[in-house]
Amino acid sequence: MTVIEDMNWRYAVKVFDSAKKVPQKDLDELLEVLRLSPSSFGLQPWKFLLITDSKIRAELRKNSWDQPKVTDASQLIVLCARTDMNEAYVHKFVKSIAETRGIPVDALKDYQGMMLGSVTGRSQEDLLNWSKKQVYISLGTLLTACAVKRIDACPMEGFDATAYDKILGLAQKGLTATVVCAVGYRGADEAAKDKKVRFPKSEVITEI
Ligand SMILES: Cc1cc2nc3c(=O)[nH]c(=O)nc-3n(C[C@H](O)[C@H](O)[C@H](O)COP(=O)(O)O)c2cc1C
Repeated sequence: MTVIEDMNWRYAVKVFDSAKKVPQKDLDELLEVLRLSPSSFGLQPWKFLLITDSKIRAELRKNSWDQPKVTDASQLIVLCARTDMNEAYVHKFVKSIAETRGIPVDALKDYQGMMLGSVTGRSQEDLLNWSKKQVYISLGTLLTACAVKRIDACPMEGFDATAYDKILGLAQKGLTATVVCAVGYRGADEAAKDKKVRFPKSEVITEI
């Protein structure tokens, strides 16, 4: 199977089979894919919430344009950006690099300086937007991994982030809901028959 076959197999599922659950082993793998996603400087300004509580999922659905996949997919993952990126966070990250790689913190002084410049040199708004961009990268890796593993998914921006933050108590945790992804298996979904719509290569790819 090629990656192109994987990309053609996947689509944003509208109707999930609510009886089919993603096995724990596969779910763990998807969560590990999220954890391993790349981010600018490797700062990982995110947290991924696996929502299993059906009452909470019902509440979230009310704040997601009533999209059935929020409650019917096997799992719902809320991808959050950190709202608490600051100097202390950079120091914590540098300590983690030093420990993981067995090198002194001092050897990372230049790298630390660059990261501090990037984090402290931005307005809060810009910093949050930057963090959210990193979260979207993790969404991309998740969607690709799902396709490779023939697990269905639907990314979602159609939700009220303020309501999600409130329901999930995210503000107190220094987080904000950024994008959501339902994972599971397609059900009797008419959308599965739709042809994939993409502009031609000539329009979206240019060699200069
Ligand atoms: C960031 C993002 C947000 C999306 N939000 C929703 C959504 O809220 N509800 C939905 O049904 N589809 C949503 N989609 C799915 C897109 O509509 C879909 O990916 C697009 O039409 C391309 O079709 P395909 O993924 O089936 O190939 C979203 C996709 C992305 C990447």
